[in-house]
Amino acid sequence: MFRSAAALSVHLMWPLWGRKAGASLTRCLHQSLTMTKRLQARRLDGIDQNLWVEFGKLTKEYDVVNLGQGFPDFSPPDFATQAFQQATSGNFMLNQYTRAFGYPPLTNVLASFFGKLLGQEMDPLTNVLVTVGAYGALFTAFQALVDEGDEVIIMEPAFDCYEPMTMMAGGCPVFVTLKPSPAPKGKLGASNDWQLDPAELASKFTPRTKILVLNTPNNPLGKVFSRMELELVANLCQQHDVLCISDEVYQWLVYDGHQHVSIASLPGMWDRTLTIGSAGKSFSATGWKVGWVMGPDNIMKHLRTVHQNSIFHCPTQAQAAVAQCFEREQQHFGQPSSYFLQLPQAMELNRDHMIRSLQSVGLKLWISQGSYFLIADISDFKSKMPDLPGAEDEPYDRRFAKWMIKNMVRESWEKAAGPG
Ligand SMILES: Cc1ncc(COP(=O)(O)O)c(C=O)c1O
Repeated sequence: MFRSAAALSVHLMWPLWGRKAGASLTRCLHQSLTMTKRLQARRLDGIDQNLWVEFGKLTKEYDVVNLGQGFPDFSPPDFATQAFQQATSGNFMLNQYTRAFGYPPLTNVLASFFGKLLGQEMDPLTNVLVTVGAYGALFTAFQALVDEGDEVIIMEPAFDCYEPMTMMAGGCPVFVTLKPSPAPKGKLGASNDWQLDPAELASKFTPRTKILVLNTPNNPLGKVFSRMELELVANLCQQHDVLCISDEVYQWLVYDGHQHVSIASLPGMWDRTLTIGSAGKSFSATGWKVGWVMGPDNIMKHLRTVHQNSIFHCPTQAQAAVAQCFEREQQHFGQPSSYFLQLPQAMELNRDHMIRSLQSVGLKLWISQGSYFLIADISDFKSKMPDLPGAEDEPYDRRFAKWMIKNMVRESWEKAAGPG
């Protein structure tokens, strides 16, 4: 559609096909632009570094296993890979665009599946938005809701993107720290030993607070917030008229009989909560990058505005596969055949194996009660090796992780291999 003339848009594909990259294009690839104006937008200031990019490069360079990033080293379940194959080889229309805010069979099943869990009747057209992974849902939510100068409360340690996403939207991150209580002598602590101080949390709310970000089960602690802790957060959000972005991508990954509780299911919280989920984490298929965000229409409509002016539409075939996976899970829910029961059972064994391995090299750990992660205490190393290489303002844990990547593996290999 053109603004000032009545015109018909036709696709002019043919004349472009077969055109070779000409001299001007080749030149572009080799020149770097110098501009008298400032090149990058101010919203990028201070957020150009990214942990995953940096550590991804390092682990490649030193040829070590990257245990930092959250993705499985095993296949998704058969029903999921079959659903994906079917989506790519069946109905040819799945090669085309679908509804901008989500492929209808997917939004339908998400609304009915999560509607039951949250105790909330959901309209698939207005209460669910499908995004490029949960990352896309988070970005869309921050862009839609955070304004210049708004404060966003983030619980530390946190998934690293909440801070730059807040800043990119013009907001101001306000941190509140979860602190561990000491483990009983000679025993391992658990990730739930990391607690919020209620008075400290309350003190972070100001008239400028717009959003609190919750992540349960938590990356990187593995903490599963209890109902009581969620009630504390919910009461403060209601008291100070604050929205909650609840990142629940690991909701099926809970161990030792712990229960995941969605904060949106607590009284009065549906109206002020956005609940975010990930098919990648739910079905061990992180490369599919299908995520979603659910909430009341008066908030969701602003997320739809961001979505229609940015991504517009997520890949149809991946959405069709996820729709089938949820339809299957809906039939098996609560039964031993449910993947959402089988996955945490298998992961719990992996967790125990990892705990034994890390303990055997002298690390103190908190037993993870959820998610893909567990956290280790390196304070003993810090007292033995206070001066690791790295920039002075770089936190010790970061320098320690880099030092391990560069030295430990090679040293232990060399030791294992023996002289010569
Ligand atoms: C807490 C948390 N939220 C969101 C995401 C992003 O999920 P997705 O891969 O669906 O974008 C991750 C990925 O590691 C995560 O750990």
